[in-house]
Amino acid sequence: MTSRASLLVVALFFYVFEEHSVSCQPGDSLYYKTARQCSNETGAESVDDDLLDEILNVECNWRLQSLGKVSDDPNALVRTFLSPAHRRSAAVLRAWMEDAGLRVWMDQLGNVRGRIEGSMPGTRAIVMGSHFDTVVDAGKWDGALGVVVAIQAVKALMSSGVPPLKPIEVVAFSDEEGVRFQSTFLGSRGISGIFTEDLLENRDQKGFTLSEVLKSAGLPGDMESIRRVAMKKDEVEAYVEFHIEQGPQLERLGVPLGPVAAIAGQTRLQVIISGDQGHAGTVPMLGRRDSVAAAAEMIVMIERRCGGGNHTLSQHIDPEEMLVCTVGEVRVWPGASNVISGNTNITIDIRARRSEVRLSAVDDVMASITEQCARRMMRCDIIRKHDAEAVESDPNLTQQLVAAATTSMNILRQRKESSKHGAGDEGGGAEASEEAEGPESPVLVSGAGHDAMAMAHLTNVAMVFVRCHGGFSHSPLEHVEPEDVHAAAHALYQFLKNANRA
Ligand SMILES: *[C@@H]1O[C@H](CO)[C@@H](O)[C@H](O)[C@H]1NC(C)=O
Ligand SMILES: *[C@@H]1O[C@H](CO)[C@@H](O)[C@H](O)[C@H]1NC(C)=O
Ligand SMILES: *[C@@H]1O[C@H](CO)[C@@H](O)[C@H](O)[C@H]1NC(C)=O
Ligand SMILES: *[C@@H]1O[C@H](CO)[C@@H](O)[C@H](O)[C@H]1NC(C)=O
Ligand SMILES: [Zn+2]
Repeated sequence: MTSRASLLVVALFFYVFEEHSVSCQPGDSLYYKTARQCSNETGAESVDDDLLDEILNVECNWRLQSLGKVSDDPNALVRTFLSPAHRRSAAVLRAWMEDAGLRVWMDQLGNVRGRIEGSMPGTRAIVMGSHFDTVVDAGKWDGALGVVVAIQAVKALMSSGVPPLKPIEVVAFSDEEGVRFQSTFLGSRGISGIFTEDLLENRDQKGFTLSEVLKSAGLPGDMESIRRVAMKKDEVEAYVEFHIEQGPQLERLGVPLGPVAAIAGQTRLQVIISGDQGHAGTVPMLGRRDSVAAAAEMIVMIERRCGGGNHTLSQHIDPEEMLVCTVGEVRVWPGASNVISGNTNITIDIRARRSEVRLSAVDDVMASITEQCARRMMRCDIIRKHDAEAVESDPNLTQQLVAAATTSMNILRQRKESSKHGAGDEGGGAEASEEAEGPESPVLVSGAGHDAMAMAHLTNVAMVFVRCHGGFSHSPLEHVEPEDVHAAAHALYQFLKNANRA
């Protein structure tokens, strides 16, 4: 009886002691105790495993869930550029960045930025981040994952009590999706110095210009101030971005993280097909100029050219080139069941990893359209709307990310195996970490544009994709397993640790 009671007292003592000295339990305020309060008072260089788990796993996932609730619409996640929810989320990010030990400010384009100077003079900054705006009815991880993971990685690094050798800058980009102004990468264009003055005159749906919207948010809203947002090339060493894959490949491969070899280039065309409008019953087939039939023939030709329309891959298409062609918009005039349509407009979106591959597909598609229209004796105008060059990741930087991710996988697997608790769900993680050591050279190609595309104008870039469920994104069905978020945060932390060792 007595011995049992004393055992209980001892156990209780350890429990209480643990609670007060090292554990950082989630509270219901915006953030937990600061990293320093949580870390070992002795300032030992190695960070406690439990603390790391708290920062890179528990708090990281909890913060992503919290950020996912900051929305302009109570029933769907919407956070467009400088909306009320967008500004609230900026305040939340500021607090989290400060908590991680960063010096924080909002720049003249609404980007939230946090910086730590390096202890070694003359070194250039490692910039990390992603965007915090969303599409309408978005998922919680698109953009937010890359921002929160970067903040947590810095917090973990700072918990060791040793300041980094090189400056570190975390950026939460204010606009990537471009929903409000039908633009792309407003935030990262500013930072990489490729923001053009005409963008300030873009109008949102209510008719306000970007310049006016910036001013109403208390920012100067002129080109002179936006020029000051840009970082200088000789002050930046690299830009690193973690982002959800938004595709199904990592899930198929059974790995949580995958380095991105390149971001696909993109060409957008519009075709205006003009035929003869007529009566569906009285005009004979011979001699019709039917714009819908012409469009249909083009659409099938475009799909075939890029290897689609067939579930067996045709031999001349290399899957690694990620050549994809899409007709996403078809507009028919007048669009009535008893009328031969006089005018049909289609949009064509062609993307590929390498510019040669994309441009050759664009040439073939344009030649085919011209040929088909000549045969049908119809007028077709092809308008080239947009061309963006592909961006290759820096191989060296990518290699460093792969090495960091591999180390992280091994650490997380070992920790999982050594912990006797939760033996039931060992399978997934252990499997994944073994496979993560497999392919050394990255093969993923991003079909979507990212802030890294703009940042490539400033510095070397590299990206890591994080596995998501079913490839869903830009949808409430978007989901990333907490374990994969942990893997991402740990890999970025490991990358920072390695970068500051050299
Ligand atoms: C704190 O640091 C001391 C000295 O390095 C070490 O012995 C101790 O295990 C550390 N405690 C924790 C909880 O990490
Ligand atoms: C589908 O692909 C197979 C194999 O490459 C090919 O033989 C067949 O002709 C293709 N069918 C179409 C409709 O493109
Ligand atoms: C097709 O585009 C032309 C030029 O922009 C426009 O005048 C026409 O109304 C469009 N047709 C349809 C059906 O949207
Ligand atoms: C790769 O990165 C390392 C570490 O930053 C650097 O020492 C090395 O010179 C780089 N190599 C190339 C080819 O850029
Ligand atoms: Zn995104």
